[in-house]
Amino acid sequence: MPDAYQRHLGEAVFRPYAVDLARRAAELRPARILELAAGTAEVTAELVRQLPDAQVVATDLNSAMVEYGRQRVPGVEWQVADAERLPFVDGSFDLVVCQFGVMFFPDKARAHAEVERVLTAGGRSSSTCGGPLDTHVFQAAAQAAAAAVFPDDPPTFLPAVPHGYHDVSVIIDHIEAGGLPLVSCQEVVIEGRAASAASLAEGYCLGTPMFAQLEARGLDEASLRSIKEEMERLLGDGPVSGSMSALVVEAEAA
Ligand SMILES: C[S@@+](CC[C@H](N)C(=O)[O-])C[C@H]1O[C@@H](n2cnc3c(N)ncnc32)[C@H](O)[C@@H]1O
Repeated sequence: MPDAYQRHLGEAVFRPYAVDLARRAAELRPARILELAAGTAEVTAELVRQLPDAQVVATDLNSAMVEYGRQRVPGVEWQVADAERLPFVDGSFDLVVCQFGVMFFPDKARAHAEVERVLTAGGRSSSTCGGPLDTHVFQAAAQAAAAAVFPDDPPTFLPAVPHGYHDVSVIIDHIEAGGLPLVSCQEVVIEGRAASAASLAEGYCLGTPMFAQLEARGLDEASLRSIKEEMERLLGDGPVSGSMSALVVEAEAA
């Protein structure tokens, strides 16, 4: 799964936001950075590139992701960690970053409380959440294509998880319940570019948790081909581009 995620979605969908998040991090000049839900290390690689002198600890709940990240960006410390139970002592980091991870945490206020605990006084939390599904052209097309192929029981992953947490007042409530006063919450719109609609289809179908939902609905070579064709019909042939939106939320420990 990490391979398909990285090959088909890493550069097209996640890197542009990683560049933005690392740029925000660089402006803060932190000495010690903790990354949560690092996945295949898109943000980690950018942190190393933009902040070569910072000490970075990159973590993820999934040990396969941590192993993938360690191979890809060996110059940082890698550790398996649940964002709701961070294995670090109080006040260990100047900055905690988390790109497209918070939506996956069952108890978001608890994860924010853990972030607050491991931050130094005045330390910053920067996290990115997905916006509404219809503001992300690639992911809306992936959902529409999967729903066209499995119309009786469309997969729910994309609308429910990556795009199921974008109510700004709820996001702010969770951050403040974790003891982190909000600094800013900004919509960031970026034009995504991918090699092809078929490549995106492979990424979403085989490289995300949508895979398990499609497998349960009988995904095979023929239905995967149909999803690719439907995405091509929606997005076009050859290299494709489309608008993507996300919310970047910054908060500061007291
Ligand atoms: C959509 S990926 C984002 C990966 C990466 N940050 C990026 O932008 O490409 C979500 C990640 O959240 C991780 N994750 C899910 N629940 C988690 C938890 N409770 N604690 C830490 N990581 C978690 C998953 O293993 C997955 O790698």
